[in-house]
Amino acid sequence: MAIRNIVKEGDDILTKVCRPVEKFDDKLGQMLDDMAETMKMADGVGLAAPQIGILRRVVVVDVGEGVIELVNPRIIEESGEQRDAEGCLSCPGEYGIVARPMHVVVEAQDRYGKKFTIEGEELKARAFCHEIDHLDGIIFKKRAIRMLKPEELEG
Ligand code: NI
Repeated sequence: MAIRNIVKEGDDILTKVCRPVEKFDDKLGQMLDDMAETMKMADGVGLAAPQIGILRRVVVVDVGEGVIELVNPRIIEESGEQRDAEGCLSCPGEYGIVARPMHVVVEAQDRYGKKFTIEGEELKARAFCHEIDHLDGIIFKKRAIRMLKPEELEG
């Protein structure tokens, strides 16, 4: 496994729409391992492939229950709403209030190409939405109702 460099806001790659994964090979497995390692080192709850410079539809999420790998993920159901502070490893030190669904169902493939669905509530739903947005070139700041001021960041 290797720690990859995290692309920061301002880099064009973060505004691009990613292509689906078609080959479920060792290279994809290696990339997923590296993404999990990089997310852990950065203390993040999610990371999308474009954030390590790869324009493929791959994300990893870990809200404290272990790493979830999503290849070619798609939100197929959503309900409710939550408004809370959100940040991004590509925008260090910046946080904003973003409205997200309270509950989502995501359809995706695993690293071997097998299809599955997974549900997310609260933080997990937020993380799924945030990371899947990255695959369409959308950074959370574009969706933020408002950004938090430095004096609001305490705690
Ligand atoms: Ni992000």
